[in-house]
Amino acid sequence: MIKIELAKKSDAPVEVRFITQKELKKSGYKELLNSAGFEARSETSCFLYEKGLLFIGVEEKENPNELRSGSATAARVLKKSNFQKASIAVDKKSLPVIAEGFVLGAYEFEKYKSEPQNKKLKIVATSNKAKELQPLLDEALTIAHATNFTRDIVNTAPQEINPKTFAQLAKKVAKENKLFCDILEKDRLEKERCNAMLAVGRASIYSPRLIHLAYKPKNAKQKVTLVGKGLTYDSGGLSLKPATSMVTMKMDKAGACATLGIIKAVSELKLDVELHVFIGAVENMIGGNAYKPDDVLKSRSGTTIEVRNTDAEGRLVLADVLDYAQEKAEGSDYIFDFATLTGACMVALGQYTTGVMGHSSALKHKVNKAASSAGELTGSLPFNKHLKKLLKSEIADISNIASKPYGGAITAALFLDRFIKEENKEKWLHFDIAGSAYTESPWDVNNYGATGAGVRMMTRFLLEL
Ligand code: BES
Ligand code: ZN
Ligand code: ZN
Repeated sequence: MIKIELAKKSDAPVEVRFITQKELKKSGYKELLNSAGFEARSETSCFLYEKGLLFIGVEEKENPNELRSGSATAARVLKKSNFQKASIAVDKKSLPVIAEGFVLGAYEFEKYKSEPQNKKLKIVATSNKAKELQPLLDEALTIAHATNFTRDIVNTAPQEINPKTFAQLAKKVAKENKLFCDILEKDRLEKERCNAMLAVGRASIYSPRLIHLAYKPKNAKQKVTLVGKGLTYDSGGLSLKPATSMVTMKMDKAGACATLGIIKAVSELKLDVELHVFIGAVENMIGGNAYKPDDVLKSRSGTTIEVRNTDAEGRLVLADVLDYAQEKAEGSDYIFDFATLTGACMVALGQYTTGVMGHSSALKHKVNKAASSAGELTGSLPFNKHLKKLLKSEIADISNIASKPYGGAITAALFLDRFIKEENKEKWLHFDIAGSAYTESPWDVNNYGATGAGVRMMTRFLLEL
């Protein structure tokens, strides 16, 4: 538990200070810091316990992303110490990123620990204008807490979160935030012809759920649709994953969890946008009734799909959910989907960067800008007509995998593109968060496990609409 409060001054026993390499050379603590072997680089720290000073290395003090990640470093160091209270000087520009960094960096998932540390930490953000800054702090905390909320669900074990319990959780979020909520179970999914989604979930003891939440403020200026891949577990199906690749596949619901975090943040911030969230909650398993490579599925849109690999299941679920979403939230200004869709995205961009794909360069630019100011890494991967041809099927309208192994993140997005209606092409973007949603070693503001990828950047985008 970490608490952050604003005050004019503080009597905390520790003060956190950012320092650059340049400042270090001129610092009054130069000798002490040098003798400790401290070099003021990104993600480094030096704790002068006796002086009550915690120095955090940063490349540049003007760079908000450095301060955010530096604050996460400070949170980790303080959590390991026996100090429970620290202060840090802030101003209008630095406060939001510092608050975010502390809350995100202090996060740990301890639900399954018999002896959780549950360390309490209080950060006093000091400024002469403490009162004035309160709304800024509140906004930053709302976004950071929504990110941690998303992390918690992604981190929860798959024996606890399955399509049925995921739907219950969504219902709870809807109730707490006064959202519209409609959950389609098997019978309604059949009536809606969501055959691709139903096929993926057929071997699970929990049938698929299509979850629709909506936040509808009175004077909404814009309407936005979010779609989330919610594979509560991806074993690969009959095209079974190798044992080592299956571990961590509880995170295949991260896209869906991000959309839940975003709608929570947006309703708490009372933004003037109508926001619709559509989630395909499905479990991809094996069994006598499992869908198979060679099956041909008739998706909700009528497009037939040749299944050549049951591990390319996310796009099958999204095909139906995207089609449903475009009908139910017709006239949306933007349609964004979030999905841990391909290992290929990690090959292309590295594990830290979210892949952004779609037709509108202007929209990609706008979103990349919002992401960068929110401290998330994004990179655009371009479509082309040659890659599109690789999805050709000899017996159906489209194949669920490409015929060549390169450009897998793009061919997956081009598969989704097939289910985007003509009038929505320029409004749609696909976010592949396969790498960025989960980590097994800390980086930036992230610790072990889920990162909450998508929440900060999309909330920022919606805030700036
Ligand atoms: N959920 C996986 C993608 C994934 C891989 C997410 C690693 C996070 C980490 C997805 O359903 C999948 O298995 N995709 C296949 C597609 C292939 C069969 C065309 C992949 O990436 O190997
Ligand atoms: Zn898969
Ligand atoms: Zn998957």
